[in-house]
Amino acid sequence: MRINKKLLLVSLLCTGMIFLQSFKQKHDDDKPINLKVLSKDISEKDLHTIMKSFSMSLGVRCNYCHVAKEIPGQNHPQWDFASDDKKEKNTAREMMKMTMAINSDYLGKIKTMGDGLEEIRCVTCHMGRTTPIISVDSLPHLPRQEH
Ligand code: HEC
Ligand code: HEC
Repeated sequence: MRINKKLLLVSLLCTGMIFLQSFKQKHDDDKPINLKVLSKDISEKDLHTIMKSFSMSLGVRCNYCHVAKEIPGQNHPQWDFASDDKKEKNTAREMMKMTMAINSDYLGKIKTMGDGLEEIRCVTCHMGRTTPIISVDSLPHLPRQEH
């Protein structure tokens, strides 16, 4: 009986260690593996801040750009953030490059009183929606133009 208890304790400890090991392994696997525009060394915190700002700027949730598989019997979907299957994710990459180019090649080079103009971001155009207004006809309260 005594020996059995000892054995049980030892095996519990071992299981615990294996569990911790696999947790650590899993955590390492969570590092981004498919960044093509952002720096590959970006911290998890900075990446999440950027992703939240994308979502807010476009008025969407993560699944607008990322693949989420519903698992039967599970409350939470299984995310595959590295997947490029959604075309919106690739459009977002082009938008990131476009935004950076506008800032560095144009706004940053326009000298006002001293510094360049303020930088633009996703929200500058998107203002909380996926499709920015691209025609004055779509303005919500278009004032009558007097000629
Ligand atoms: C408007 C599109 C868009 C939205 C919304 C968005 N993402 Fe992303 N996400 C991207 C793009 C684009 C990349 C890849 C960036 C690159 O290639 O440098 C990315 C990459 C990632 C990665 C790294 C994946 C890997 O292994 O390479 C994670 C994690 C991630 N996003 C999480 C999130 C989370 C969490 C949310 C919601 C809070 C979110 N994203 C919302 C576009 C989006
Ligand atoms: C200079 C203005 C501008 C900026 C800045 C901008 N976008 Fe866009 N974005 C547009 C326009 C215009 C469209 C096309 C709208 C349309 O006609 O469907 C678009 C479309 C998109 C789409 C595709 C929407 C769809 O219906 O398929 C995504 C995704 C997107 N932008 C993400 C982003 C992200 C992420 C950023 C910031 C990194 C960003 N955009 C910055 C102007 C901009």
